[in-house]
This record gives sequence, C-alpha cells and structure tokens, in this order.
Amino acid sequence: MPISDLIYLYRINNYFYGYLLFLSFTGGTVMKKVFAFITITTLVMASIFAAGAKESSTMPLEDQNKVILNSNTPKGDLEIFSWWAGDEGPALEALIADFKTDYPQVNLINATVTGGSGVNAKAVLKTRMLNNDPPESFQVHAGQELIGTWVDADRMLDLTPLFEAQGWLDIFPSDVINLIGTEDGIWSVPVSVHKSNVMWYIPANLKKWGVKVPTTLEEFFTVAKTLQTKGILPLSVGTTWTAVENWENIALATLGVEDYDKLWNGELAWTDPKIVKVWENFGKLLNYTNKDSASLSWQQATDMVVGGQAAFNFMGDWAAGYMMTTLKLVPGTGFGWANTPGTDGVFQFLSDSFGIPKGTKNQDAAVAWLKACGSKAGQDAFNPLKGSIPARTDANLNLYSAYSKSAADDFANDIIVGSLAHGVVANEGFMNDFNAVLERFMNNRDAKSAAQASKEIAKSNGMAN
Ligand code: GAL
Repeated sequence: MPISDLIYLYRINNYFYGYLLFLSFTGGTVMKKVFAFITITTLVMASIFAAGAKESSTMPLEDQNKVILNSNTPKGDLEIFSWWAGDEGPALEALIADFKTDYPQVNLINATVTGGSGVNAKAVLKTRMLNNDPPESFQVHAGQELIGTWVDADRMLDLTPLFEAQGWLDIFPSDVINLIGTEDGIWSVPVSVHKSNVMWYIPANLKKWGVKVPTTLEEFFTVAKTLQTKGILPLSVGTTWTAVENWENIALATLGVEDYDKLWNGELAWTDPKIVKVWENFGKLLNYTNKDSASLSWQQATDMVVGGQAAFNFMGDWAAGYMMTTLKLVPGTGFGWANTPGTDGVFQFLSDSFGIPKGTKNQDAAVAWLKACGSKAGQDAFNPLKGSIPARTDANLNLYSAYSKSAADDFANDIIVGSLAHGVVANEGFMNDFNAVLERFMNNRDAKSAAQASKEIAKSNGMAN
C-alpha cells in the first residue's frame, strides 16, 4: 500500500479514535469495548504506518507529496475521469488521440460521468476518493474547486517538478498559475480557458423580430419586454447550475468588477443592499425565462435559441463548441455572441485542468497524460473543438474559430474576474449550498432572505466571518 494511503487512513482513524474516546467517556460498557477494539486497530495501523515510513525513509516526507519524474516508458492502464461525455466529448477525444500517438503502450480508459458542469461527476469522484479508488487523473476547475476542496484535504500530488521540467512556469499566464498553486505547490495542469459571461443569439432571428443586441441590463429588460409581447421567449435557461451561471452574470453587471471581487474576498457583506439588488435583478431576469428550466440540460437551452423558440441564452463558451462542432453552425452568421448585458470589458473566467490524486496506481502514465494536457499540440487539438481558448500563451490561434479569436482578444485585454458556477471563487461546499439557496429563491423570489441565507452559507463554508 503506498505511503500516502497509509497516512490518509491513519488520519481518518485518528479522527474516528478521538470521537470514540469522547463517546467512551459518555457511553456505557459496549462503547468501552468498541473503544478498546479501536485502540488496538489504531496501534496496528500505527505500526504498519511506521513500517511503511521506514521502507521509504530515504525520501523526506515533503517529497512524498511531489510527483515523481523518471525515464520509464509509460505503459499499462491509465484511467482519466471527467464529465466530457456525449456532445462534450469530441474535444477530449482529439486530445486523447494526440496522447495515443505519443504513448502507444498506455491503455487509456476514458471514464466519464455525464452532466453539465460536473454535477454528477463530482459526486462520483468524491465517493471514489473516499473509498481510496482514485482514477489516475481527474478534471477539476482551477481555483477554489481545486484548492479549497482537494488540496485542502491533502489529496493531490504537487506537480511543481513537472512544471519546472516542462518549462510551464513561463508558458502559462501567472494569473492562472496562481489559481492552481499555493505556497506548498502547483496542483493541476490547465487545459483550457473558458469565458462564462457570453450571450448567444441567432442574428437572422433578431433581425426578423426587429430587436438589437442589448448591451446593458436596462436595455436587456426593454428588449425582453418587446419580445414577450411578440410571444417570443426572451431568455432560455436550463437546470440549476445554468441559473447559477446567470446569477453570476447578473451579479457582475449589478455590482461591477470591484464589488464583485470584494464579495469573494469577504470585503462585501452578503447582506449588503447591493447584494439584495443582485437578487432583485436576477428575479427580474427570471420573469423572462422558460418555466421548464429545471428539466433542461444546457444543450437543450442552447437548442431553444438555435431552433428559434428563444431569443437569447447566457452560457459559457462551451456553447460555441457545441454549436460549431456538434450543430455545425458557422460563428458570426450561424450564431452570434456578445458579453452578457452590463459586463462589457470584463472576462468572467474559468479553466479546466487535470491533476493527479495521491494513491494512484500508475503515476508514470498519469504524468504522461498531464504532459499531453499541457502541451501545445494537445491544447491546439482540444480547444478549437471545445469553444475554449488555450491556457498556454504560445498556442497557434490560426487553428481557432472567429469566436475563439475574439475570446482570445478579450482574455488579453479585458479585466478578468472568476466564475462562481465553475469553481473559481468558491469551494465546493459553498457551491452546493448556493444551489439550494438559489432554488429556494426561484420559488419564493424573496431577495432579502436569499441574501441572508447566502451570508449563512458563506460563513459555514469558511468564506465569510
Ligand atoms: C464547465 C466546464 C466546461 C464545460 C461545462 C459544461 O464546468 O468547465 O468545460 O464542460 O462545464 O458541462
């Protein structure tokens, strides 16, 4: 058993032991017997741990947290885990094809769990990690989803040696490296950069309906009213996480960059009247959306725009990937885009990355996978199909669509803020609780109580005092 697993088991056992110690003081004879049993297992565990530590005593403890690089030829099974299935699959498959040309001896197992933004995959991953059955590598968002969840739990390998060996410290933007790193290490390899504040539409339809692309929230609400009187749905929305993404777009438009950032730094109170206003604006937006949103995937919400049932959809630019790669629409004529109203000059950012959890069976193959993820060839195979732009600064933009070129331009020139729905600014605990707050708001539309509830979950998830 690898030493990292032993440390993990030992820690879990210690927590459990502490709890039982407490119960044995307060409980009866049965509890005392259980306590005695656990004492023995703890001692056995401690001696196994000590033996394991002796075995690898040549390696200092901090090095056991670092990825090991060697000259072995990677081979054997490599399981990579993500939510890029079905319509979201082609970009990943292109990256895998690139990997296979370099590492033909590796048997790559592409494990996916369907569900936009990883709603289902993240739950499966958590169970597997707790059962000590990690894949060799898994998809995770740069930012708090990685750091506040897996790094804080001490479950990831430090990839600093790999970054140094590959020269990646000079190739990835320092802002992105800051989001995947802590003072103790670098924890994942970014594959893509996505923008979450994009509004999609079909130019010919807007022309037919006689409306212009709105650039401010006020303009949006005016256009929405006009569309509604013509019997056209102004905005399509899908399942809860897509509504959270709409919420973050409205928060940015209502607060502006400075206050939006302050919210995540803990400098702006969740009960501030400005936040109540965000909820009110979000409620206003909901008045112009479909009633069946809860049952629709993000692709189905996009389909409503493409099919002419709705005028607009706010969604990250994987929607461009879907419209170009799956629906074969041409950017500019087949579909149009603009920043979500009120967010011009700002790029609401997220990045997909892959890391290596501690305790994987085939670290050599996992390292090979990360090399492909971070390579120029890998990123230029993946991102043009995905609708994202490369995380690397030296990619060949000639390979990219008109949409992606415009996103690359925005990324270079706009102010960057982090996405909530895609794990940049908040940890997974907050995100899960926020879904519940937002669902309640969708039913009762009570802005003040939503602001109050958000304050409580920020506190309970360590994001506010
Ligand atoms: C995001 C992810 C994107 C895309 C999207 C829809 O969280 O970063 O790459 O997959 O979900 O599922």
